[in-house]
Amino acid sequence: MCSDRTTTTLASGHKIIHLEGEELSRQEKDWEGYTEGLVRLTPGRWLFSSTFIQHANKYYNFKMREKDVLLMTYTKCGTTWLQEVVWTMRNNPDLDNPMAAAAVNTRVPFIEMDLFLKSKKIPEIEADHPMMKAFQKMCPGRDAAADGMFLQMAESAPDSRTIKTHLPLSLLPQNLLDTCKVVYLARNPRDAIVSFFHHARIFRIHSYTGTFDDFVQYFVDDDFLYGPYWLHLKEAWEQRNHPNLHFMFYEDLKTNNMKELKKLNNFLNTKLTDQQLNNVSHYTSFPEMKARNSLLGEGGDIFLNLDIINKDGGFYRKGEVGSWKGKYTKEQDQKINHWINKNLGDIGIDFKYTA
Ligand code: A3P
Repeated sequence: MCSDRTTTTLASGHKIIHLEGEELSRQEKDWEGYTEGLVRLTPGRWLFSSTFIQHANKYYNFKMREKDVLLMTYTKCGTTWLQEVVWTMRNNPDLDNPMAAAAVNTRVPFIEMDLFLKSKKIPEIEADHPMMKAFQKMCPGRDAAADGMFLQMAESAPDSRTIKTHLPLSLLPQNLLDTCKVVYLARNPRDAIVSFFHHARIFRIHSYTGTFDDFVQYFVDDDFLYGPYWLHLKEAWEQRNHPNLHFMFYEDLKTNNMKELKKLNNFLNTKLTDQQLNNVSHYTSFPEMKARNSLLGEGGDIFLNLDIINKDGGFYRKGEVGSWKGKYTKEQDQKINHWINKNLGDIGIDFKYTA
């Protein structure tokens, strides 16, 4: 092992440590999409593809605007659902906005998506690709490779932006909560793991080829992209009483949908009527979103392992609370329990694991 694996310090104050040796080989073997190396940021042990570094300071200094709503989640905690819920509440409560036909990620830009674009598992996005055309239209004369395609599209989007991120609070602007509203959606980790196992196989940028047993181990070892899961959660949970942060749970949104939509209505100050909230509830229900199958936008197929999707199903998998049941062996279940108990004491969240 190299004696000095610490190289640079980010604007956030985090030091970058490049993964090496056996640790890196193991990840690269199981996650064939991680072709550009991996880094850990300390403090926190945040794990990212090395490509995160290119724009890390721009994410940290991202200029949020007063009318923005930032949607934050750990991966597989219901991000896309929240995107559709909040965008519809803000822009389409009468279900008559033609913009709704655009993909969810087009309407609600994913700020740090660029970090996934260099994976050799996906083709380079050329000038004639629909995503590059959309970029050129929105950001004429700008350089996608040097300054980020998705980042600049998010920067250029007009008010009122609804933006998606999986980054934790500590890697985002420190005046975030003083500037705009933030919604954090959490999900119980047992369902999130099962959901991610499916996602990691269908998305080429991950291309996970390891076993489910190893997958669980990566998760409980916090050797997982965007992790540690608990720290991500804890940073937001500690801000749950901040007037500009609304903390909510996937499980509540699922089992008590209207009640949660009403709370969001208050928080976002969207002033929707009960009829409009009913529209949103129906339009963003799992069967409706699955039927529309809207996520990535034109050209988004380059990100997908269609052979696995055809065999095991697409992005909209189950959309349930408790679909982890029957998926874990006794040993895996014990491992997860131990990991939950070790971390939960510190945070005090009471997750619901069944509907
Ligand atoms: P499952 O794999 O358990 O079905 P993310 O958007 O963060 O990647 O989260 C994806 C998870 O949210 C998937 O969970 C997906 O099916 C679920 N999901 C997407 N739309 C949903 C909806 N309208 N209602 C409930 N769950 C939804």
